[in-house]
Amino acid sequence: MRITPMVMNGKIIFNEQTIKEHFLMRIELPSSFPTPVPGQFVMVREKDIQAPLLSRPMSIYGFERNHNCSFLEIFYHITGQGTNKLSLLDKGKKISLLGPLGNGYSINLDFKHVILIAGGIGVSPLTFLAAHLNAALKVSSFEITAYIGGRHGCALAGLERFSTYCSDIRICTDDGSMGYQGLVTDLFEREINRYSAKDSCIYACGPEGMMRRIAEVLRDFPFSCQISVEERMACGLGACLGCAVPIKTSSGTVEYQRVCKDGPVFDIRRLIWS
Ligand SMILES: Cc1cc2nc3c(=O)[nH]c(=O)nc-3n(C[C@H](O)[C@H](O)[C@H](O)COP(=O)(O)OP(=O)(O)OC[C@H]3O[C@@H](n4cnc5c(N)ncnc54)[C@H](O)[C@@H]3O)c2cc1C
Ligand code: FES
Repeated sequence: MRITPMVMNGKIIFNEQTIKEHFLMRIELPSSFPTPVPGQFVMVREKDIQAPLLSRPMSIYGFERNHNCSFLEIFYHITGQGTNKLSLLDKGKKISLLGPLGNGYSINLDFKHVILIAGGIGVSPLTFLAAHLNAALKVSSFEITAYIGGRHGCALAGLERFSTYCSDIRICTDDGSMGYQGLVTDLFEREINRYSAKDSCIYACGPEGMMRRIAEVLRDFPFSCQISVEERMACGLGACLGCAVPIKTSSGTVEYQRVCKDGPVFDIRRLIWS
């Protein structure tokens, strides 16, 4: 059942740099904010400020509630004007949030092995997913293996929290300063035969190049694989069609779907790579 998104004002509890150009923001919200599912996102902007005009989409990194209020976390990388402005907001500042938005990951607890593949800030939605899966381990039994990649050891965004939820963490760095030297997709490809496609499922989020490579690797391996797609967004609600991407339908035709409403999570085999 889809959650009805709400616009709410929140208060920043903290907004701290974790590693270079990466910030973790914790926001206090009214307790009526709907409980999100992993893979969903929020549109974020500073309250009552008109520049930049459009809110920015951010995956939900963490969420908890008590009887008085809810706490939502976003983990973000500064890429331009909007994220730079977010990084300058101090504790106590008011923030406007629209959400939770999008479909979120479809979670099937029947698999014996869950494989998470995170590139860069793609670790954000996968950390929230890993936390949910970890909680599900009380009732189901499966392994969680995570592949995480970055340029070098000190540029591995979110590694600490992500690792706490996973049975096995496979680290890759471009310069070999930590873990395997090379791309996260290279290590995953080398190790793919460790997993059975029948018993394992994959969730991935990262740069387009990483996801495209996973799609190529999986041509020969019939794993179930869901990826979270990033597109520039305006409304976040499915109204402007600004985020539409071509998707293969089950009957083999191509149709445009909105990343904000029909996604951001799609079956990797349905994506058409430009
Ligand atoms: C569903 C969803 C979830 C996201 N979750 C996160 C998250 O958890 N953490 C995080 O750091 N970022 C996340 N992003 C990306 C984030 O929204 C963009 O980085 C942000 O909007 C850039 O805004 P800006 O004003 O700082 O940069 P801009 O000045 O708008 O753009 C800077 C550069 O980033 C590119 N860019 C902007 N928006 C996007 C986008 N959506 N996808 C790809 N490239 C883009 C631009 O083309 C430009 O090259 C998410 C995006 C989506 C769609
Ligand atoms: S951002 Fe408007 S339809 Fe997706």
